[in-house]
Amino acid sequence: MKKVKIKVENLTKRFGDRLILKGISFEVYEKEIFVLMGGSGSGKSTTIKHIIGLLKPTSGKIIVDGVDITKLSKKELIEFRKRMGYLFQEGALFDSLKVWENVGFYYLENTKMPVEEIRKLASEKLALVGLKGIEELYPSELSGGMRKRVSLARAISTNPEIVLYDEPTSGLDPVTSAMIDKLILSLRDNIGVTSIVVTHDLDSAFTIADRIAMIHKGVIYAIGTPEEIKHHPDPVVQQFINRKAEGPITEELFKEMQKES
Ligand SMILES: Nc1ncnc2c1ncn2[C@@H]1O[C@H](COP(=O)(O)OP(=O)(O)OP(=O)(O)O)[C@@H](O)[C@H]1O
Ligand SMILES: [Mg+2]
Repeated sequence: MKKVKIKVENLTKRFGDRLILKGISFEVYEKEIFVLMGGSGSGKSTTIKHIIGLLKPTSGKIIVDGVDITKLSKKELIEFRKRMGYLFQEGALFDSLKVWENVGFYYLENTKMPVEEIRKLASEKLALVGLKGIEELYPSELSGGMRKRVSLARAISTNPEIVLYDEPTSGLDPVTSAMIDKLILSLRDNIGVTSIVVTHDLDSAFTIADRIAMIHKGVIYAIGTPEEIKHHPDPVVQQFINRKAEGPITEELFKEMQKES
């Protein structure tokens, strides 16, 4: 029997008068890589921000290991977050801190671990994402792709049981993207991490996912294995999947786009 690690139950979220999540439900099993896929503005980031408790639902439940985290006090939530890593879509590094201080931030803030040890731990996590020797640099001295990987190193710094990744491969070159995919897979296979990965990167989604959920305008249209999703009859799902096959931008298309903008 698969153990349910995360259960999202009929989640709705309203921002002002806009209903952004319209009753979303799904379960993520222990040690599973669950990919949340969907177009821009469909509600992917909003969904995972609820799972880490950064947003409170308008209605619905978020159950992690049997506990409804929407009911936790602030203090309980901080305790709970130790078990979860979260890669922000924007990276969200602290500009005034060096790379190693960003990666070791949790330990610097919340523990009495000796600084040299924290630095060593940060170096180890940086090596996992293919970054060595940049410990003393500041985020402003890095490329976008490097910043993303530093954020990823920070997300896994506490060896969390659950990691939520918001667009881990966006803005990365194909080789680096493949490396990040491999890292996500190895965290599952070697440590038994449960992951939710938000992505529009179809190659990445089909490479790493145990199951994929397709979200569109705040509604989940399909949940299934990569094979099931590939052959799913829903037009919304097919449109998203087949966008990949539309091919490169032709000269005519480019002229059309210029006219429109
Ligand atoms: N704090 C907020 N206040 C008001 N509206 C918000 C807020 N956060 C998100 N939204 C709105 O909710 C909708 C979904 O946003 P969300 O960030 O979840 O999309 P997404 O699927 O992650 O898109 P993308 O792929 O572009 O990152 C958008 O229309 C956005 O404008
Ligand atoms: Mg987003």
